[in-house]
Amino acid sequence: MTTPTYTPDAQRYENGMKYRRCGKSGILLPEISLGFWHNFGDVDSFANAEEMVHYAFDHGVCHFDLANNYGPSSGSAEKTLGRIMQRSLQPYRDELFISTKAGYDMWPGPYGSWGSRKNLMASLDQSLQRMNLAYVDLFYSHRYDPNTPLEETLQTLVDVVRMGKALYIGISRWPREAAQVAYRYLAAHDVPCLIYQGRYNLIDREPQETGIMDQAQENGAGFIVFSPLAQGLLAGRYIDGIPDDSRIAHGGHLKKEALTDKRRLQIDALRLIAERRGQSLAEMSLGWILNDKRVTSVIIGASSVAQMQKNLGALQSPPFSPEELQEIEVACSL
Ligand SMILES: NC(=O)c1ccc[n+]([C@@H]2O[C@H](COP(=O)([O-])OP(=O)(O)OC[C@H]3O[C@@H](n4cnc5c(N)ncnc54)[C@H](OP(=O)(O)O)[C@@H]3O)[C@@H](O)[C@H]2O)c1
Repeated sequence: MTTPTYTPDAQRYENGMKYRRCGKSGILLPEISLGFWHNFGDVDSFANAEEMVHYAFDHGVCHFDLANNYGPSSGSAEKTLGRIMQRSLQPYRDELFISTKAGYDMWPGPYGSWGSRKNLMASLDQSLQRMNLAYVDLFYSHRYDPNTPLEETLQTLVDVVRMGKALYIGISRWPREAAQVAYRYLAAHDVPCLIYQGRYNLIDREPQETGIMDQAQENGAGFIVFSPLAQGLLAGRYIDGIPDDSRIAHGGHLKKEALTDKRRLQIDALRLIAERRGQSLAEMSLGWILNDKRVTSVIIGASSVAQMQKNLGALQSPPFSPEELQEIEVACSL
């Protein structure tokens, strides 16, 4: 069941995308990847989702980031990808790097969440079925589970690679100490951790401040950024109010309480710097993250092809002068 109307752009790897090596692995990832957290669920337009995925692939965005619970409803973003695989992308499976995760609430009862072997194994099987895939390229522990022995979670991650269900392993949002145990355990079992996924952007520097980014580098892992635009705040989405079709209006994970006076001040100041640099606030925000060579890729979210098109402009972001970097720090500290 293929869609005869979609033929990938023959120039997809010459459209401006750049690729970075993921830690000390053999894998290259696009500087900009596409995330399926919002706007790919069964409440969203399938046609729009498919258009965004095709646009991404046509522009060298060959990494799609998913998780078992993305939707809403939970699991439906994976189903959307599964449908697109069936309709058009299956012939290009070997050009795609697809990740999914397990760890957040998925089904009722004691096995539907967290980091037990039972949860991770069942969840990955469900994900593969929903996505119409024989294997994922990357399987993440989505969160650290303080109540399951780390060895149980980590050995399960090793085993899913041995079973051929995932090619690589990653961890997301793990605290520093537990992450160190993970890096050691996985390396000792010949399945080195490919990547750490953490939230990092101009107004949230936590992985830098806690040493998580340096730690990933020291352990030969890549670092991939989520919410690089602070869910739209750093795209200027809310400068003139709350648009009806926005994440805040949809009642998503971004709440209107995030729009504090302090935040508005910071965003206005950052926008002026971006204007002086001849780019949009979104382009500058992504460019600033990519300016850090510890970063392998940024996972953007988008609700339209137009947003994706604008954000891919960050690949041509001009270099930052020391003065501009200083101005950015001042703006962020307002
Ligand atoms: N590991 C984890 O725990 C975790 C957690 C969160 C996310 N993630 C991953 O990271 C991905 C990205 O996260 P995110 O969606 O929060 O990323 P983001 O890039 O910070 O925010 C994306 C949102 O910003 C708005 N936007 C983007 N470009 C815009 C533009 N040019 N102009 C105006 N608005 C624009 C859109 O909001 P509207 O929808 O309002 O248009 C879009 O949905 C997720 O899809 C997921 O794969 C992982």
